[in-house]
Amino acid sequence: MMLDIRDLSVVFHDGPQPFTAVDRFNLQMDAGEVVGIVGESGSGKSMTAHALMGIIQSPYAEVTGKALFDGTDLLSLSPRQLREYQGDELSIIFQEPMTSLDPTMRVGRQVEEALRVHGKLPPAERKARSLAAMRLAGLPDPENLWDAWPHELSGGMRQRVMIAAALVLRPKLLIADEPTTALDVTIQAQILETLKDINRTEGVAILFISHDLAVVRALCPRVLVMKEGRIVESGPTEDIFRTPREDYTRLLISSRPTRTKLKGGGVHG
Ligand SMILES: Nc1ncnc2c1ncn2[C@@H]1O[C@H](COP(=O)(O)OP(=O)(O)OP(=O)(O)O)[C@@H](O)[C@H]1O
Ligand SMILES: [Mg+2]
Repeated sequence: MMLDIRDLSVVFHDGPQPFTAVDRFNLQMDAGEVVGIVGESGSGKSMTAHALMGIIQSPYAEVTGKALFDGTDLLSLSPRQLREYQGDELSIIFQEPMTSLDPTMRVGRQVEEALRVHGKLPPAERKARSLAAMRLAGLPDPENLWDAWPHELSGGMRQRVMIAAALVLRPKLLIADEPTTALDVTIQAQILETLKDINRTEGVAILFISHDLAVVRALCPRVLVMKEGRIVESGPTEDIFRTPREDYTRLLISSRPTRTKLKGGGVHG
């Protein structure tokens, strides 16, 4: 087992009462697996991911539990040790590529950044590997894109640059937090297809977060449904679609009719 999360909780102590954003979250994931987390806004999806990555910014946050990654508890690592893990072992992409990309840095340099920070390779090899990551992320003609600025690219292309940057160190786990939410449905479907390919060809495990059960269905064989910080239901995505146990899950299914289908369109519904 690659990832073993035991009773992960995130509690904020910034109000009159402690607020539990994530409540005893459990997940076991094998190498190369693709798992979805779905839930309404505020259900604790991002805080779960941020806790794993050690990037919860608030000084009022209390994170407890264990998150064993290949046997090492991520939650017990120092910020410095965590930085070494980030990108290398696990990597995250966010919803908004424009806020995650540095507008003052050319595309190629941003993809290369993690390699430079880790100081692993000579420049020529860094560039070769970055170009390969860009190709993997579905960017056409990466040599030409190398010197482009983020604002010159479309939203979908920017998200692909983020994916390339997240993959450049060849992580074992990619956490994708609503990576397609800001994009239109056609581009969304293409990016999901790219993530599928990356999983298939590189064996990268993906923890895919979305409020949209239809999107999760297109990518993830297994899903966890979160509500108010808790997992209320989990299992094979198709089972949960066919026979949801919780009214809440039924609502998640019916509030967004299936619009995104991979391959073969279905983008007009
Ligand atoms: N820094 C913080 N301080 C206090 N509460 C916070 C903080 N960050 C998040 N929360 C709260 O934690 C809860 C879970 O937030 P989280 O961002 O994980 O939700 P989410 O499921 O990702 O929602 P969305 O779909 O809108 O992204 C929310 O109620 C949120 O208000
Ligand atoms: Mg979120």
